[in-house]
Amino acid sequence: MAWWHSAVAYQIYPRSFADSNGDGIGDLRGIINHLDYLSQLGIDVLWLAPVYSSPMVDNGYDIADYCDVDPLFGTLADLDELISGLHARGIRLVMDLVVNHTSDQHPWFIESRNPASPKRDWYIWRPARRGHEPGTPQAEPSNAGSAFGGPGWEYDPASGEYYLHLFSRHQPDLNWENPEVRAEIYQMMRWWVDRGVDGFRMDVINLISKTYPPQDGPVGPDGLCYDAALVANGPRMHEFLKEMNREVGISERELFTVGEMGNVDAGLVRSYTAEQSAELGMVFTFEHVLLDQASALKWDLAELKLSRLKKTLASYQYGLADEGWNALYLENHDQPRSVSRFGDDSPQFRVASAKTVATTLHLLKGTPFVYQGQELGMTNAGFTSVEQYQDVDSLSFYQQAVSAGLPAETALVALSVKSRDNARTPMQWDADSQAGFTTGFPWLPVNPNHVQINVATELSDPDSVLSHYRKLIELRHNLVVVQQGRFELLLPEDEQLFCFTRSLGSERLVVVANWSSNPVDLPSELQFAADAELLLGTHSDAELGLAAWESRVYRLA
Ligand code: NOJ
Repeated sequence: MAWWHSAVAYQIYPRSFADSNGDGIGDLRGIINHLDYLSQLGIDVLWLAPVYSSPMVDNGYDIADYCDVDPLFGTLADLDELISGLHARGIRLVMDLVVNHTSDQHPWFIESRNPASPKRDWYIWRPARRGHEPGTPQAEPSNAGSAFGGPGWEYDPASGEYYLHLFSRHQPDLNWENPEVRAEIYQMMRWWVDRGVDGFRMDVINLISKTYPPQDGPVGPDGLCYDAALVANGPRMHEFLKEMNREVGISERELFTVGEMGNVDAGLVRSYTAEQSAELGMVFTFEHVLLDQASALKWDLAELKLSRLKKTLASYQYGLADEGWNALYLENHDQPRSVSRFGDDSPQFRVASAKTVATTLHLLKGTPFVYQGQELGMTNAGFTSVEQYQDVDSLSFYQQAVSAGLPAETALVALSVKSRDNARTPMQWDADSQAGFTTGFPWLPVNPNHVQINVATELSDPDSVLSHYRKLIELRHNLVVVQQGRFELLLPEDEQLFCFTRSLGSERLVVVANWSSNPVDLPSELQFAADAELLLGTHSDAELGLAAWESRVYRLA
């Protein structure tokens, strides 16, 4: 067993966690001030979203210096203090590693703009499509779209060529085919490990190996291709990950690694995470968070069917049962709040549904990730006007959608459901005017519901969502069956009940969860009146059926 097989991770999006200097933006000192909170929660690993020097086009996922902290967040000395404060509490620190691309302000890219520079080949430069005048419509080298909308190629008039950017045009993709690029990145990773960092969350890591030459693919409504199969999991993917593992000493030093990977299935994840592959510890997959979209665009909303969610999660539980490892998440800085998306965030059911959704996720096999505020049952932002949004992805969608003729109200509905800003509103510490997040003016509005939903209130309430998370974390630490037990899905077609077992030797847990806002009967084989031990439940009186959003975890005698 690797040490992270019994661990629970917590993600901090530093901009929104705690502001110590009143500039309205969270910072490292803010995190240091709340270390005891993390310790009380019981987490083992902290994943810190990027704090590196950055022009902040994508809130730090556009890095201009991999070995320095942006002054917005503090200094390297603050980071050292954070690392030692965490280690003193038995918590490990995992840094975000964003190496598919850099900022266009990174000195490497600035140099690379010069065709004569030895750094030209560090990025992906290509001439215009054959027979097309550079810089004219459709002259891009391929029809690849950028994840934030628009073409994935940017024309550079000075050199007459294009560079590839799978995200914003301020995030040029690095050329991993160039061995100097790889060597430089491994050296940077070793530098962080020597500083005390315990691992890496690897941003869009299966994009680093691409298929060459860049090719046209099937187009969507905007004439561009968003087919991830053309850009993800390229032919040298395993080679690069093995090389990185070896060069940085990932397996040898037992570093925590989680790779973010779109366009994978359980078989592929197994190949990346099986111990003998010596590549990654675990993978963040996307299939389960794509079920509520109707097309390749996340803004095309579709209703989520519980049966599909169960089957998707189960496919990874089964696929990684004997080899490989799961990263378990429902929420992060790119996804809406899970209680609003999977639960019912109305006042009547918010607490119960946040607990039940959490119970379900935390009883699966894998390493669970809690995103800041999820442990409070924080909800979507509830923004109603486009001026409230800040996210580059959301704003680019809105502009393009509205100029293509989509009614503004429809675009706003899509944003209110799917915008990344839903999860980026400030952490709710208390009922004060800015939720205890800042003494200044927050960069993104505080959710008015912080008056009810906040750390101070929930810490003192044994029935709060927060108290429930503490119990779930404890359960994972204490029970080997939660860490290792074999998963089996029950009632796969049921659209209200999410039920499964976990078994290890003679020990067996049964999880019964009502994922709906109506009461439900339990089939007789799942009614354990007196003959099972109730380890954890969301409601106090145990009827034979389940109340709306009620869940229970039983241990069978
Ligand atoms: C995934 C990150 O989680 C997201 O926030 C970012 O915009 C993209 N990768 C690009 O780095």
